[in-house]
Amino acid sequence: MINVAILGYGTVGGGVAEVLKTNAASIAKRVGEELNIKYILDIREFPGDPFENIITKDFDAIVADADVKVVCETMGGLKPAYDFTKKLLEAGKSVCTSNKELVAAHGPELLALAKENGCQYLFEASVGGGIPIIRPLLTCLTAEEIGEITGILNGTTNYMLTKMDKEGSDYADVLKEAQDNGYAERNPEADVEGYDACRKIAILASLSYGQTVNYEDIYTEGISKITKEDFDYAGLLNRSIKLLGFCKEEGGKKYAMVAPFLLDENHPLYSINGVFNGILVHGNMVDDVVFVGRGAGKLPTASAVVSDIIEEAMNLGKASDIEWVDEKLTLDDKNELKFKYMVRVSGNASDGRFAQVFPGAEELGAEILAGEYAFVTPELTEGEFLSKYATLSNAIKFIRIK
Ligand code: HSE
Repeated sequence: MINVAILGYGTVGGGVAEVLKTNAASIAKRVGEELNIKYILDIREFPGDPFENIITKDFDAIVADADVKVVCETMGGLKPAYDFTKKLLEAGKSVCTSNKELVAAHGPELLALAKENGCQYLFEASVGGGIPIIRPLLTCLTAEEIGEITGILNGTTNYMLTKMDKEGSDYADVLKEAQDNGYAERNPEADVEGYDACRKIAILASLSYGQTVNYEDIYTEGISKITKEDFDYAGLLNRSIKLLGFCKEEGGKKYAMVAPFLLDENHPLYSINGVFNGILVHGNMVDDVVFVGRGAGKLPTASAVVSDIIEEAMNLGKASDIEWVDEKLTLDDKNELKFKYMVRVSGNASDGRFAQVFPGAEELGAEILAGEYAFVTPELTEGEFLSKYATLSNAIKFIRIK
């Protein structure tokens, strides 16, 4: 029997206990031994809960218990998860987590600590919820030079954008629904302003480049300014709006960014709807590989955490071998990237002003709202676009096209 502990009995932690209980027999067969939940750490009381008798507030007892070999941290946030994780790794216990905030902020340090102490630190659930992406990237796509990773990396915003697109739903209502379904972060600003997707692409970029991409260095725009009218314009272009995070290597330069993009129906991520995430990996030999699944929610995320628990239980005493060093990778300027842009402006297209500023731009030709129109620019570097856009006195907004 291998004893495990769960830190944090919230949505994901509760899911981990449920997955371990529901699939106990098949998991025991795979591991070769039964996995026993010895402790669940939480500051709250859970009267009547089936795990009530093992819920504790005593973290030190878990660290001191030599019988506990594997711990999953599903607390979220940096404090106290960071200190707890360090103490557990120092005690030689393998830790796994769904905590992208912690992995993005301290991943290489915690991996080094795991290596030093002959244990593992795994974080499959930190990106893409239930989608296996980190292990495939590290163990299956190893023959590849990865040119680009583009993902719909946040279930909450994809759920919201899909409902706004397909049902014309109101932003506030769909955010509430996503929260009620357990998809959203404690502070939903992390979802809607793109910070959550930013941390996830920072993790994928760091793993694929082997150095640390600081999430603070990634230009990030969320969806809080996207409106129903934007979808009406997107419809004129037979496109949808998706919040994308991507990192790419081009001509020896490395870029990363998070923003809403207009995708056409031929794009592999166009039809990824609802809480589903999609991650498109482009390798120089294999070409495109797409990973799709539920990007948030109790059981899908818990399934990924439990896959790490199993991996750790099957490899007790084996030190972490993930290559991610604590050296900062300096990203290149996203203003060098090229896109087309859909621009909304007030006034009347017949004044032709847009074509003077953006030669070759095409007007969309249908009135969505009185007193405004929209056009699509030719492909421009972001720097060139932004300086021209700044000269428009009647600009309302723009959305990039991928
Ligand atoms: N709030 C996150 C999301 C949870 O919606 O994707 C999973 O990381």
